[in-house]
Amino acid sequence: MRKNILITGGAGNIGGSLSRELVRRGYFVTIIDNLTTGSLKKLPLKKFKNWEFIKKDVNNCNLNKIIKKKIDYIFHYAAVVGVKRTLKNPELVLRDIKGIENILNFASSRNVKRIFYASSSEIYGEPVTIPQNEETTPLNSRLPYAIVKNVGEAFFKSFKKTRNLNFTIFRFFNTYGPLQSDQFVISKFIKNALQNKNITINGDGKQTRTFLFVDDNINITLSILEKNKFINNVVNIGNDKEITINELALKIKKILKSKSKIIHKAALLEGDMRRRKPSIKKIKKIYKNKFHSLEKGIILTSKFI
Ligand SMILES: NC(=O)c1ccc[n+]([C@@H]2O[C@H](COP(=O)([O-])OP(=O)(O)OC[C@H]3O[C@@H](n4cnc5c(N)ncnc54)[C@H](O)[C@@H]3O)[C@@H](O)[C@H]2O)c1
Repeated sequence: MRKNILITGGAGNIGGSLSRELVRRGYFVTIIDNLTTGSLKKLPLKKFKNWEFIKKDVNNCNLNKIIKKKIDYIFHYAAVVGVKRTLKNPELVLRDIKGIENILNFASSRNVKRIFYASSSEIYGEPVTIPQNEETTPLNSRLPYAIVKNVGEAFFKSFKKTRNLNFTIFRFFNTYGPLQSDQFVISKFIKNALQNKNITINGDGKQTRTFLFVDDNINITLSILEKNKFINNVVNIGNDKEITINELALKIKKILKSKSKIIHKAALLEGDMRRRKPSIKKIKKIYKNKFHSLEKGIILTSKFI
């Protein structure tokens, strides 16, 4: 029988891609989003009849009232995102704790089979080990966004203990792709490169990140769903190819044959970690496909900007 899936934040970058792929695979998908950073453009195509969209704030609504369908699985992806936005609005970020409680209460009251949670690499803070390992790297951050993700993880584990609700926690490292807002580094650099405008880097640009193309993120998370893996477990979802922000800017300029100048401005006072690199041993055990190269991902992304 067709499975019903609820996605919060399903009009966002990752949530929208996930919604579209689940609809394509034949699931019935209920999408809840308040459209703060999401957009109707990211929803599945109207020609498909196996989805519905509900515009609501998950931090402030009665889910049992608005969703009557039986729900098999939930992906909780709604969150206030973006380094600058989250640093500017710490109170708003902390309100996401209410949404986590709401979705968990709903899931346990409706006997959902498993709930997936979008946590973040930010939870590791300034990493004391490279690569960052799910079990052994301390969770060091003191920033509200990361604290909320940490509290969220604790909530998911607690609901398993007290209400036997199955979960999987995804710690997402940078995921990028078409339709992502230009608050994110790759979209921002591509947009400026295409217009030959200055590409601005915060600080010395020697900070590193790893970048996973959004289709790879979706294929990994859906194999975890469909192969029944990582039940009641935490898993890093990311690419392990590390690149400095300086190299990223140069690469984007070269690929797009841009005349942009690369300029540096003062480093962010907080939130811009020096290094990020996930240990991906866990996902590699179940996901054997090659990831998109950064070059290919940049070209694909640039076609939508
Ligand atoms: N993209 C990344 O690299 C990355 C890295 C780490 C973690 N994450 C996490 O993955 C999830 C998806 O991120 P994304 O990059 O797709 O960002 P996004 O901003 O594109 O998606 C978040 C979506 O949630 C919606 N939303 C926010 N608050 C809401 C609320 N209270 N009620 C209903 N909808 C709400 C937004 O409108 C948006 O559509 C987030 O939880 C984010 O913290 C993403």
